Amino acid sequence: MSDSNMNKSKLVAYAPASIGNVSLGFDLLGAALKPIDGSLLGDEVEVEIAEQFSLEVKGRFADKLPPDADSNIVTRCYQHFIKVLAQQGHKASAIPALKMVLHKHLPIGSGLGSSASSIVAALHALNQFFTEYLGKAPFTDNELLLVMGELEGQISGSIHYDNVAPCFLGGLVLMAEHKDQVALQLPCFKHWYWVSCYSGISVSTAAARDILPKQVPMADTIKFGRQLAVFTDALYRKDEELAAAMMQDVIAEPYRKSLLPKFDESRAFAEQNGALAFGISGSGPTVFAVCDNLQNAEKINQWLTDNYIQNDTGFSHICQLDQNGATSRHC
Ligand code: HSE
Repeated sequence: MSDSNMNKSKLVAYAPASIGNVSLGFDLLGAALKPIDGSLLGDEVEVEIAEQFSLEVKGRFADKLPPDADSNIVTRCYQHFIKVLAQQGHKASAIPALKMVLHKHLPIGSGLGSSASSIVAALHALNQFFTEYLGKAPFTDNELLLVMGELEGQISGSIHYDNVAPCFLGGLVLMAEHKDQVALQLPCFKHWYWVSCYSGISVSTAAARDILPKQVPMADTIKFGRQLAVFTDALYRKDEELAAAMMQDVIAEPYRKSLLPKFDESRAFAEQNGALAFGISGSGPTVFAVCDNLQNAEKINQWLTDNYIQNDTGFSHICQLDQNGATSRHC
């Protein structure tokens, strides 16, 4: 650890909210979000050296997590990390214990990649901390992403990277799921606004996966493949109209929308008011609308705030893509 960082030895990592699937890429496409008003939309994890391991949970949604630290995913991230350090030959006596604090800013079961945000913030914080402490990164980015997917799978019931990858890397991300290249960052349109509205109700990802059919008809399979391939090509050729036209969900939305009160009205309003695309963020209930100008984004944001939000827990933000992904700082 450098002298300047020794003096400020608490490290804080931030990991942004994300849209899983982005309608057209079930389990294969994800986008990191950054509200344009500068507000935080993601979890933070602090680490500092202590006598023994402890985890404290703070923040608006702290009381929605199990009270015992042992069942918190951040504790599991820490345990996994320490195990890997031991496997790498580091003696337990040479590894300091850490005090960790999770600032739980994202609602659970929101479709905003809440568990992914906690996992990415925790593992990014640990990797940064031990890189400075040991003088060498315990994990490469790709190795860390594989671990993030594994831990996220423990919560959602299956391994998919469409939240952890954009949350960690930033931007719009396509899953390659190759051992040496889990995810690929795609170019996107910088002037697109992503209005993201959380209704305030909770939908479990495992339950929202259970309601999907186990087989997909041939026609939908072909449409899914065509859309994802054409979308990716259109992004590289900067063909905005074609890219937006491909953003349709043939896999999950037809089934999941029944879990989302006011979904059809919200889609209709967004489409009638200039949205290029509209869909469910991850497994819902958050919905998102893509606009190519701020005026339309503001109108849709206001309507969703007034009509899609169901209770005091809900919120809506006009976002752009968070190109940074996970970040860390000393304080
Ligand atoms: N791709 C996942 C799903 C995202 O739609 O089930 C939720 O984590």
